[in-house]
Amino acid sequence: MGDATAAMAAADPDRGFLGVEVHTPGIGNLLALVGEQHLTNVRVAHGDAMELVHRIDEQSLDAVHVFFPDPWPKARHHKRRLIQPSNVALLRDRLRPGGVLHCATDWPEYAESMAETLDAAPGLRRLPATAEPHARPKTKFEKRGADAGRPISDLRYART
Ligand SMILES: C[S@@+](CC[C@H](N)C(=O)[O-])C[C@H]1O[C@@H](n2cnc3c(N)ncnc32)[C@H](O)[C@@H]1O
Repeated sequence: MGDATAAMAAADPDRGFLGVEVHTPGIGNLLALVGEQHLTNVRVAHGDAMELVHRIDEQSLDAVHVFFPDPWPKARHHKRRLIQPSNVALLRDRLRPGGVLHCATDWPEYAESMAETLDAAPGLRRLPATAEPHARPKTKFEKRGADAGRPISDLRYART
């Protein structure tokens, strides 16, 4: 619903943020937050992030945040997962050297699959778990996962 994006943008006013979502109410809520908080460093795109990525210059982003992507827990749906090798390559190419791809999930099996995919991806180096792994705003789906007793995994990789 954009709360985390708005909070990150408010805390880092000199950096531009681009929120991408297919869910229309999420777009509306983020735009409302941007208006209420008079944020001038947020852009919002309505659509598929993996289509938009082709319109972003290579080596232009400081970071890509993929927080609590749909887990698609059934094996036959794994191909729909956002974190898979072809998408990771596209996202990595948009990061500037040293830029960070930060993924978070509350699904342990997806966390394992993410780590396997990201560890194997050329041009990405895993960053050590920080002392404060949750040094980002809590998202709606994170709260939902935590309330259900699921562990939260944060995986951060720098572009080499
Ligand atoms: C499980 S929710 C998590 C939302 C939020 N990041 C959070 O943590 O509360 C996953 C969100 O990703 C959006 N989504 C899934 N695939 C997408 C894509 N290809 N491009 C943009 N948004 C996508 C869905 O519409 C949904 O709102």
